[in-house]
Amino acid sequence: MTNKIRVGGLRGIMMRGPNMIETLPFYEQMWGLQLAHIDQGCAYLRGNADEAFIYGLKDSSTYGIEYIHFSMPNKASIYTLFEQVKKESVVIFKNISKFDDYIGGYGFEILDPDNRRLRFRYGGSKVEPQSEWAKPKKISHVVLNTPNMDKTQKFYEEVLGFRVSDYSADQMVFLRSGSDHHSIALVRAQYASVNHVAFELSSINEFMRSIGRMKQNGHLPSWGPGRHRPGDNPFAYFISPSGFVIEFTSEVLQIDEQKHEAKVWSREKPELMDTWMTSGPPTNAQRTVMAGRPDPGFSSLDIENK
Ligand SMILES: [Fe+2]
Repeated sequence: MTNKIRVGGLRGIMMRGPNMIETLPFYEQMWGLQLAHIDQGCAYLRGNADEAFIYGLKDSSTYGIEYIHFSMPNKASIYTLFEQVKKESVVIFKNISKFDDYIGGYGFEILDPDNRRLRFRYGGSKVEPQSEWAKPKKISHVVLNTPNMDKTQKFYEEVLGFRVSDYSADQMVFLRSGSDHHSIALVRAQYASVNHVAFELSSINEFMRSIGRMKQNGHLPSWGPGRHRPGDNPFAYFISPSGFVIEFTSEVLQIDEQKHEAKVWSREKPELMDTWMTSGPPTNAQRTVMAGRPDPGFSSLDIENK
């Protein structure tokens, strides 16, 4: 929908679950993030770039996504997107106003068709970029399991302006908001949950060194290293102490809007799932952990209580 305003970049994600903040040492000492701020039961972790946080941990009784965090390029675009969203039957979780969290800035929140909370923000505090080697610089992508594939894909395309980059058989769709091949992907599933969150390293050497850091700390990949065909990105998946699947990636395919045509990648040939054939297709155990735990998301009741 080229005539519609598009969501900006993926700034990060706040995860929630029981005793999440207790898992901070894993992210600081092994995964390569730094604690930027902690308050009100939320820990904000930064990467190498200028985002004040890319991954958050919130203590909660329920496992899932607290919110996915998107940028908008300016204040006017926030208003335009908000007007666009209001025309659709979308639940507005927070009207346009200032954010009173650690980041600040200005924006609004909505719920997607699976009741996931999406936060759109312009401005807010940034941090000084760092040059430390082999540390994640940003969230590359978030993959979501959905029991409403058609409706959810339509929402991300038509309400938020995402474009389809590719499909994996009839099971998965890769969606982009910028030049990265995908920043959101959807997987056909029995229930709504988070499939995995991917962290981007600046080079293939830093990707491999990050896997090495995990291995030296006794933490092996649950799948990988390998290299996906759709997106052409290397992957190494790990399971976090809270049971979420997290990924190291790098060198994500950059899309040329003038030339790119989405295609359907078959799942029949193992080489189409792993170019290098160093890991091959995921095991049943990997598929199970990627199915995740049902995430009820949010409802109008939460709006009244928040
Ligand atoms: Fe991924």
